[in-house]
Amino acid sequence: MRLLNTGLWLAALALAPALAGCGGGGATLDRNDPKVKALLAELPPAYAAADLANGRNKFELCRQCHTIVKDGPSMTGPNLFGVFGKAAGTNQPAFAYSDGLKASGLTWDAATIDKWITDPRALVPRTKMSFPGMPDANDRRDVIAYVKVASSGGPN
Ligand code: HEC
Repeated sequence: MRLLNTGLWLAALALAPALAGCGGGGATLDRNDPKVKALLAELPPAYAAADLANGRNKFELCRQCHTIVKDGPSMTGPNLFGVFGKAAGTNQPAFAYSDGLKASGLTWDAATIDKWITDPRALVPRTKMSFPGMPDANDRRDVIAYVKVASSGGPN
């Protein structure tokens, strides 16, 4: 019995790294993971402290309209893969963006997305994104960090 238990325990240890690697080429959704850390370092310093688990939770509000992984479908909103650094309304050419968004002159960096998800209509009055806004600054920091990592091919 003792031997059997030891065997199971070793099998579990051997499996753990494989399970932790789900969805990110071996990286985990943890701000100390090297791949995640490198992506977060492309954002302003405050994002290094983001709570990615909270960001993923809060992104559930976005997921009703958006997918975020490579080649995900556009739904009510465009797929968000690769959105960082893009001019607004250009990341998914097949998506029917509003004229207001296309004419906005915005580029999606962390500061712009922060204003956007605070109140999309305040930033782009004729936008099609009917999202009421996320009032809590920490939640926005966390969700933006999650979007950065997940939309850049990191764990999600
Ligand atoms: C009710 C549906 C809906 C929800 C919820 C929603 N979005 Fe959107 N989103 C849209 C639509 C529609 C557009 C396109 C807007 C336009 O063309 O004016 C959009 C556009 C965007 C864009 C610009 C994409 C591009 O290619 O230029 C970003 C970034 C974005 N949303 C992020 C988010 C985030 C982050 C959340 C959650 C906090 C969220 N959205 C919640 C529908 C939604």
